[in-house]
Amino acid sequence: MPRFLHLFTLLFYLRIPASSAATDTILAGQALAVHDKLVSSNGRYALGFFKPNSSKSSQDTTNWYLGIWFNTVPTFTPAWVANRDKPIKNTTSVELTISQDGNLVIQNESTKSIIWSTQANITTNSTTAILLSSGNLILTNSSNQSEVLWQSFDHPTDTFFPGAKLGWDKVTGLNRSFVSWKNLIDPAAGGYRYELDPSGIDQLLLVALNSSTSYWSTGPWSGKYFSSIPEMAARHSISAKFVKNDRERSNKDIHMDEGLTGLVKRLDGAYQGEKQFRAEVSSIGAVQHINLVKLVGFCCEDDKRLLVYEYMSNHSLDVHLFRSNSTVLSWAARYQIALGVARGLAYLHESCRDCIIHCDIKPENILLDASFLPKVADFGMAKLLARDFSRVLTTMRGTAGYLAPEWITGVAITPKVDVYSYGMVLLEIISGRRNTCAPISSNVDVYFPVQAAHKLLEGDVRSLVDHKLQGDVNLDEAELACKVACWCIQDDELDRPTMGEVVQILEGLTEIRMPPIPRLLQTMFESCS
Ligand SMILES: *[C@@H]1O[C@H](CO)[C@@H](O)[C@H](O)[C@H]1NC(C)=O
Ligand SMILES: *[C@@H]1O[C@H](CO)[C@@H](O)[C@H](O)[C@H]1NC(C)=O
Ligand SMILES: *[C@@H]1O[C@H](CO)[C@@H](O)[C@H](O)[C@H]1NC(C)=O
Ligand SMILES: *[C@@H]1O[C@H](CO)[C@@H](O)[C@H](O)[C@H]1NC(C)=O
Ligand SMILES: *[C@@H]1O[C@H](CO)[C@@H](O)[C@H](O)[C@H]1NC(C)=O
Ligand SMILES: *[C@@H]1O[C@H](CO)[C@@H](O)[C@H](O)[C@H]1NC(C)=O
Ligand SMILES: *[C@@H]1O[C@H](CO)[C@@H](O)[C@H](O)[C@H]1NC(C)=O
Ligand SMILES: *[C@@H]1O[C@H](CO)[C@@H](O)[C@H](O)[C@H]1NC(C)=O
Ligand SMILES: *[C@@H]1O[C@H](CO)[C@@H](O)[C@H](O)[C@H]1NC(C)=O
Ligand SMILES: *[C@@H]1O[C@H](CO)[C@@H](O)[C@H](O)[C@H]1NC(C)=O
Ligand SMILES: *[C@@H]1O[C@H](CO)[C@@H](O)[C@H](O)[C@H]1NC(C)=O
Repeated sequence: MPRFLHLFTLLFYLRIPASSAATDTILAGQALAVHDKLVSSNGRYALGFFKPNSSKSSQDTTNWYLGIWFNTVPTFTPAWVANRDKPIKNTTSVELTISQDGNLVIQNESTKSIIWSTQANITTNSTTAILLSSGNLILTNSSNQSEVLWQSFDHPTDTFFPGAKLGWDKVTGLNRSFVSWKNLIDPAAGGYRYELDPSGIDQLLLVALNSSTSYWSTGPWSGKYFSSIPEMAARHSISAKFVKNDRERSNKDIHMDEGLTGLVKRLDGAYQGEKQFRAEVSSIGAVQHINLVKLVGFCCEDDKRLLVYEYMSNHSLDVHLFRSNSTVLSWAARYQIALGVARGLAYLHESCRDCIIHCDIKPENILLDASFLPKVADFGMAKLLARDFSRVLTTMRGTAGYLAPEWITGVAITPKVDVYSYGMVLLEIISGRRNTCAPISSNVDVYFPVQAAHKLLEGDVRSLVDHKLQGDVNLDEAELACKVACWCIQDDELDRPTMGEVVQILEGLTEIRMPPIPRLLQTMFESCS
């Protein structure tokens, strides 16, 4: 069931663009021109000609390639390249078509010269090319489409697609591995290769091609789990993101490549043993969702525990909500952030292999990327620290204000502690200020969550919304968000929705009743004013 759910949520979460006339198929006799594209039937992948570009690279290129990219990701992100070593310099009269011999080819229409071919050993010229919903480009027998004659999954470039396989295939004789791009704008084979460790089970090795140096791959990408990564590009110089070989004891540094930086997070406190730590990192590293910060590596040496996360350019949510000199987040951005965080948490709780309770949801742990897409950071910390929850609790007193009552009463915690914290964060997103008791100098003298519950009942949502927005707000959405928040902060965890339900409600798919005033908070409010 979890696996099914996982797939389901993936499909469910990805926005499918307004349909265009795009098809996913090339039949014999048809051709794809340079400015056309194929789109997989689920809308997730596109195939076409592209010119690599990168905001991180000042250089430009005149080279064109045929490739597959993520059609739903705002930043153009190629995941597979057909002619990585044979760029097209002049696209005039270039097309993708089925040749006389049945292979899929890039050819110069005017000269009929072949620039690239699938080079499959086939005995029919009646073939069809299809871009599947998995991102696999296949060439099939037109009379029997389950007969796959060639597939891009057998010829990976640098990105792993769920469902693809690595290593030696006895049937086809192919030995599949990823090789990094040369640089950000040149997909030609670069300096690093990912391959299966011939001695280990399910272990991926990162190998520097021009030396015998083998960079060890971090536990999270043991082959088995790697296949559950939804859509992460191990792009460009993959080396960049990994902690160097720990066999070389002298090399404790974290190796980063141009343009790419990680957050290095040092775990302080009480650790579990190395073996347990590795096991947990591997389970956490297997967790991949667009709204969760990607763990890209770790280091576990002596008593040091380091985690390397992908870099987020726009800091954490608290900076945007509470810093007086930061630009005001629009209502639309806030709503998308609320929804994205809910999706990330729903995934952690409900869709991955083990249910992971975050335990420390607060604006500081919600990072924003360049397009303000939220990514939840630090998940799995509770797992990484010793499983002694009283100790975790001690650590977490630092973020009082987001803690569910059951933390204090000492009963076993459930994912509903995250729901509670989420509710508190949601209120802060709405109001643009901390929930904590307002300073005496301020004329606001009520504890905001309680005020919100009351105002909601009175039908006055407008006064709850961040004044910095100057009324520029969708009041229906604001009311919905307030209701969700107040349900999330109910005293009894059974009264709180699950994160999955929160997602559905915020998406307008499920109705929600008016929440009651949270009693415990009401008490706090009395002591606060
Ligand atoms: C990068 O290239 C792709 C494909 O060629 C194009 O769709 C996209 O708009 C380009 N992005 C920028 C920032 O130039
Ligand atoms: C295709 O053929 C035309 C005409 O001969 C030529 O000008 C063009 O450069 C060719 N393009 C490629 C990519 O070979
Ligand atoms: C590509 O080839 C065509 C036809 O040979 C020519 O007219 C055009 O100038 C060339 N384009 C570039 C960018 O070289
Ligand atoms: C397939 O091959 C036959 C004979 O070899 C030829 O007549 C026909 O035009 C070819 N079809 C295509 C689509 O190339
Ligand atoms: C192509 O297929 C034929 C028949 O299946 C076989 O005899 C031949 O050896 C194959 N050629 C290659 C290069 O694999
Ligand atoms: C294609 O499929 C048809 C129908 O299943 C079959 O008769 C034919 O032999 C197949 N051709 C090749 C080259 O596999
Ligand atoms: C179609 O191809 C598949 C896979 O090669 C094969 O199992 C099946 O028997 C074929 N169907 C027909 C009708 O030939
Ligand atoms: C597959 O390729 C890797 C290098 O990429 C090599 O180490 C390994 O021995 C190869 N396996 C087979 C079965 O050829
Ligand atoms: C390959 O060797 C060159 C020259 O020694 C060096 O500059 C480059 O960094 C090496 N690449 C890798 C991936 O080690
Ligand atoms: C204003 O912004 C700068 C950097 O953008 C920051 O260093 C500074 O602390 C901010 N000031 C306040 C009062 O938030
Ligand atoms: C957000 O990121 C973009 C792109 O990196 C940058 O231009 C912008 O200044 C950032 N905004 C803030 C508030 O950091």
